[in-house]
Amino acid sequence: MTLKKTATARANSNIALVKYWGKRDRALNLPEAGSLSVTLEGLTTTTTVSFGGERDALYLNGQLAPEPALRKALRVIELIRNRAQLRQPVRIESSNSFPTGAGLASSASGIAALTVAAARAAGLALPKTELSAIARVGSGSACRSIWGGFVEWLPGSRADGTDSFAQQVCSEEFWDLRVLVAVVADKAKAMGSTEGMLHTQATSPFHPAFIASTVRDLDEARAALLKRDFRRLGRVARRSSLRMHADMMAADPPIIYFQPETLEVISLALSLEREHELFFTIDAGPNVKLFCTPTVEPHVMAALETLPCVQRIITARPGRGAEVVEA
Ligand code: DP6
Repeated sequence: MTLKKTATARANSNIALVKYWGKRDRALNLPEAGSLSVTLEGLTTTTTVSFGGERDALYLNGQLAPEPALRKALRVIELIRNRAQLRQPVRIESSNSFPTGAGLASSASGIAALTVAAARAAGLALPKTELSAIARVGSGSACRSIWGGFVEWLPGSRADGTDSFAQQVCSEEFWDLRVLVAVVADKAKAMGSTEGMLHTQATSPFHPAFIASTVRDLDEARAALLKRDFRRLGRVARRSSLRMHADMMAADPPIIYFQPETLEVISLALSLEREHELFFTIDAGPNVKLFCTPTVEPHVMAALETLPCVQRIITARPGRGAEVVEA
């Protein structure tokens, strides 16, 4: 008898306020330090997983995905198959509500939705911390998208990674913030996060200092968040992001994700910050993400619209964790 089990899940992407950039274990995606993120409604992936069929296959936005994307997904699927003692091939269909490859962390929402859909399709009822640890093996930042709201990824210390998963610090209701993603380029980036991270770790003399400052930033960011202290959180988030980029630029050869347009948006953000509650953060790509309070949003939007280099603005807000939508 062939078993055909299907489930669909949706997950939101997340943006780190305190960045993950360095692994203590490459195969298990164990980080050198903890990180803190916000899960964002508005940057969503919906994924259907079916066990059964002829061979393993992954479709992204309706197209057969390239081999490396399938391999990444299969890291999660293998863990789920082993737990559920399933042998069937898997068919994965995934679609994003936002452009893929624009440095908008599609792997975080994609792997989180995949993990939750696959676990359900395989008939496993796992606690969120376990789902998070499984998602982590697919892509580090994905472990944070299992939870909604404001999320901390614990680095753990065990070699097997069982103590390295994400947990919720406070829910999406805790703080009504807005995130505006100023898209200045939507080409796929030259070097992915995994490779960039490993190269930085191996060659940047700044890396130990970045990790040491991440450990301190995490404590400060958590404290600022719990007090809803926007200015303090903004300072930590901004420096965590810029120190990560300084670390990458100090790698040999350097990794430079900034484009001229990135600096244009940064300088606009720095001038708006003088008057408004606003801060920026940048991940492994050229696009700048601006955090602000709801009342400030129209001002930021209007200011971004004056910049010809901004192709599109995507707005998001703290959102829900990954969940099954159909089984
Ligand atoms: C800059 O989670 O994509 O977005 O674990 O190798 O899959 P892998 O890397 P990934 O790296 C994310 C890096 C970042 C910072 C962050 O999200 O914390």
